[in-house]
Amino acid sequence: MTVVDDSIPVITVDGPTASGKGTVAHRVADELGFHYLDSGALYRLTALASARHGIDPDDVSALAVLAETLDVRFRDQRIWLAGEDVTDAIRAEAIGNRASSIAVHKAVRQALRALQRGFKTAPGLVADGRDMGTVIFPEADLKVFLTATPQARAERRYKQLIEKGFSANIDSLMLDLEARDARDRTRAEAPLRPAEGARVLDTSGLNVDQAVAQVLEWFAQVQYPQGA
Ligand code: DC
Repeated sequence: MTVVDDSIPVITVDGPTASGKGTVAHRVADELGFHYLDSGALYRLTALASARHGIDPDDVSALAVLAETLDVRFRDQRIWLAGEDVTDAIRAEAIGNRASSIAVHKAVRQALRALQRGFKTAPGLVADGRDMGTVIFPEADLKVFLTATPQARAERRYKQLIEKGFSANIDSLMLDLEARDARDRTRAEAPLRPAEGARVLDTSGLNVDQAVAQVLEWFAQVQYPQGA
């Protein structure tokens, strides 16, 4: 039986790739002094480790063991895998695509569940991903679903990759995004979709400050409902 500690507030921010959820969730966590969980990083870490160990993306049992025994540390905005700083390595497009492929497996998702739940500690948590509101933190106080047009998302991803020193092509990025979205949305296990009661925010025409302000306003509304 799962014991749910409802005294620790949780905000979930789900959405498709490059919808801005990472940036927005991180900023909201900073503003509130909450912890931040980038759940996609855990799938990317499993993907990177599996590539390095030569594990096939369909070898479910080997992937599940790998996910369950990930030697990962988040510190000072950096991500460490078995003592190596892999913060940039896990952002490569090939690793993102591999992450999406291995994320279809129920055993892999199950293996990462406890690790993700462990991030729920005082004074609160902002968690971003695909199934934060639907599966991992269904008890969340506020559930947000971010969207943006494929064009806006491809442009954002292009900028991120160039800034990190990766080469990128906007047309192939767009095709990649659409293929990854289709896989994430149609998989049987924890498909990407807005959680029940989620507030949907289209960030195509918003800057980061505006999106963050909207999430903070919604959170204030659920924390201090009018008349309470
Ligand atoms: O958010 P991201 O692009 O870093 O995630 C990489 C992949 O990991 C994504 O395409 C699907 C998978 N993922 C998932 O299935 N569930 C999550 N909560 C987060 C990511």
